[in-house]
Amino acid sequence: MISAKPVKISSNLIRFFSTNKEKILIVFHSRSGNTKKIAQEIQNKFKKEFETDLEEIKTEKRYSKLGIIFAAGKDAMTKKLTNIAPPQKDVSQYSTVVVGTPIWAWTITPAVRTYLESQKKKFKKTAFFCTFGSSGDQGTFQEMKKILNLDPISTLPITRKELRNKSYEQKMEKFIEKIKLNLEKK
Ligand SMILES: Cc1cc2nc3c(=O)[nH]c(=O)nc-3n(C[C@H](O)[C@H](O)[C@H](O)COP(=O)(O)O)c2cc1C
Repeated sequence: MISAKPVKISSNLIRFFSTNKEKILIVFHSRSGNTKKIAQEIQNKFKKEFETDLEEIKTEKRYSKLGIIFAAGKDAMTKKLTNIAPPQKDVSQYSTVVVGTPIWAWTITPAVRTYLESQKKKFKKTAFFCTFGSSGDQGTFQEMKKILNLDPISTLPITRKELRNKSYEQKMEKFIEKIKLNLEKK
């Protein structure tokens, strides 16, 4: 008699067959942790259905306490580029790249600008999010759109107040939903 041996199926194999093949990359820069926190939450929301990766844009430039008030804002405002560590993930491998930035002087940070300028040719679809005090979100998203020459599928601006009282949950769900619908449309 032939005895049936239990077949071992690796969890990776199960993931391969059960998850959507679309890959999502979430890229962000964060100096004090707010944008990083949101990036991680976004990744968690996609993780069950899609293969997702997280890329933190790392910059060598460190501002002093005074520098962060004056020089950092000036660098952002004058559209300065900066040195960033070489990206670990290849943008061209992802169907959608979600980009997150803190707002500095009503615009993207020099690190995000440098990343977008250097990677823009590899982008297929995109969505944007930002964290900020209270102003500059629309101009910031416009700037990202201009650099990439792409309309974002969706945008998510999160203010300091919304971060503090965690009232961004519904907004985030809508943001995620729009991206998922776009991916499923294909
Ligand atoms: C140099 C600098 C400039 C800033 N400029 C603005 C601004 O123009 N508008 C605004 O609403 N918040 C501004 N902020 C606040 C940040 O956008 C906000 O604290 C953000 O959540 C920080 O993100 P992070 O913790 O990921 O670095 C500025 C902060 C810094 C350090």
